[in-house]
Order: sequence, then C-alpha cells, then structure tokens
Amino acid sequence: MSQVKSVLCVGCTVIDFVTICGSYPKEDTDRRCLDGFWQRGGNASNVSTVLRVLGSRVDFFGMLSRSDAFRVLLEDLRRREIGTKNCPQTDRDPPFSSVILAQDAGTRTIIHCNKDYPQTTWDDFSKVDLSPYAWVHFEARNTPHVLKMMQSIRDHSERTGQRILISLDLETRYEQNQELCAPCDYVVFSKELAAQLGWQTPRQTCEQLAANIPGSGPKPAFICPWGSAGAGALDANGNYHELASYKQEKVVDTLGAGDSFMAGFIHATLEGQRSLSNAVDFANRVASHKITGFGYDHIAQLSLS
Ligand SMILES: *[C@@H]1O[C@H](CO)[C@@H](O)[C@H](O)[C@H]1NC(C)=O
Ligand SMILES: *[C@@H]1O[C@H](CO)[C@@H](O)[C@H](O)[C@H]1NC(C)=O
Repeated sequence: MSQVKSVLCVGCTVIDFVTICGSYPKEDTDRRCLDGFWQRGGNASNVSTVLRVLGSRVDFFGMLSRSDAFRVLLEDLRRREIGTKNCPQTDRDPPFSSVILAQDAGTRTIIHCNKDYPQTTWDDFSKVDLSPYAWVHFEARNTPHVLKMMQSIRDHSERTGQRILISLDLETRYEQNQELCAPCDYVVFSKELAAQLGWQTPRQTCEQLAANIPGSGPKPAFICPWGSAGAGALDANGNYHELASYKQEKVVDTLGAGDSFMAGFIHATLEGQRSLSNAVDFANRVASHKITGFGYDHIAQLSLS
C-alpha cells in the first residue's frame, strides 16, 4: 500500500502589512503609498505555501491565535489546504511585520512586532502523531524546544523503521542555533549569516559547518544559497557541488525567495527523489522563478519533470 506522505513545517505564521512607496518616507511626514496589502508571512508558513503550490501535501505546526485579526490567516491556510490540526491556540494577538517597499531604491525595510507571542513547546509537539509525515522542516528558533522535537523524530524513526527526514532553515544566531544542526539530514544556511561569521564562499561555509558538527557519526548535508552566484551543497560524504543560479530578465518581488528555495529543495528531494545536486538545482529554479512575479501562485508553472 503506497500512501502519499506529508511534510510538516514547524515555525511561525505572522501577518505582514506591506506598503509600497515611490521612495522611502521621510520621518514625521504624512503621505500616500502607491499600493499596499496584508498577507500571511513567516518563514515556515511561506515554505508551507510554496510546497502546496508545487503539489506537495503539507501541514503547518505553529502557535495560532484566536484573535479576530488572525482569521484571515486561518482562512488563507484553509483555502490552500495547508493542514493545521496539530496547532495549539492562544488568545494573544498575532505577531505582525510592517514592510515598506521603496520602489526607487528597490529596498525593503521590515519591522517585526511579536510582543512575546508564545512559541510552540516540546509539550505541544509531543502530542503530534508523526506517522503521516515523511519530512519535518524547522525554522531555527526556540532552540531547546526544537532540539527536543528533533530528537523525538529521530527516536520515532528508530522505533518504527520509517525514517522521517529533518531539515533546518538557519538564517539567524548561529551560536545559539548551532546545536540544532547535528540531528538534521539537511541544513540550509544563509549567505548573510556566513558573512557575519567571516566565511567568504559557499564552499568554505559548508565545510566549516560540517567541521563544527561534533563526533564522527553521520553528518547532515549543508546547502548554502549564495544569491546570484547560485548555491553550494556539501553532501553527508563530504562531496561538494556548486549549482549556478538561473538569471531572470525582470525582478518583480523578491520577498520569500529564500522560502521558495527551501520548498523547492524539499519538494524535489521528497516527491522527485532527486539527488542532492539535482534538488538544489531545482531549488535555484524555483527561487529565481519566484522573483519574476508577486506572491507564489505563478510557481505552479514549474514542474519536476
Ligand atoms: C513570506 O511571504 C510573504 C508573501 O510573499 C512575504 O511578504 C514575506 O516577506 C515572507 N516572509 C518571510 C519571512 O520571508
Ligand atoms: C526568515 O527569512 C528571512 C528572509 O530570508 C530572514 O532574514 C530571517 O532571518 C528568517 N527568520 C528566521 C527565524 O530564520
């Protein structure tokens, strides 16, 4: 009996208030914008969206709010058929981000407001039935709890003989989140974070990350998207690959390109059974196609074959 297995994306979902201005506003002035909208954001939440658009089955796991303002997010998750049955709920107001896009300079300025919104705990996660999942994807945050969640997935795999793959999106606070790498199969690491650590190439970054995993046991594969240069990937056996990016004539909207890369990688690996370098190549394609349009729906034009 072959049953289609799902991906579980663990992290947060927030409301983004996006304001598009001709130029960045001067402080203490009163002016109109060119356009604006609000939408569901948050890294794991965006990865869920792109996975659905590509045709994967996906559930989201994160703290949901019962507040009225959050209903539009729940509605969007439902419309896209992203499962939320495992999510705990709170009465607290949802976190939000204010995003200002300045068209002349092409800049994006983002202000996060999460007001100590509660994060999901190990206790919440321990109630999840893992058997429908073939893959669990995490955002690097909430380190002690996420570490226990990862460990329990490893235990579940050992107990049942059904291996659940684990991926991690690591974009902030390497020191604090480093211990999350070891239990993973795949770690995607950002160029910005590499720059902060003084690592200058995707190869150096992947190799440093691998060298920092303690012990001699199996290591995760490390993937490092490197902007217009493409992406580097180091497999568990220490073989390094570099995959060129796909150039685009027109750049329309870069928000969520990293999340699109992540979803493309998961989809190609899980649904397409692609090799590491093939999956990274597909992830490059998805990310570069993403920036040619607003939002994510146009990504549906891409397929694995
Ligand atoms: C998530 O996607 C939305 C919609 O494209 C975007 O506005 C937002 O910046 C993305 N959030 C993150 C954290 O990437
Ligand atoms: C979410 O994605 C954005 C854009 O790629 C990144 O700047 C941010 O650090 C990410 N957040 C987390 C918690 O990883």
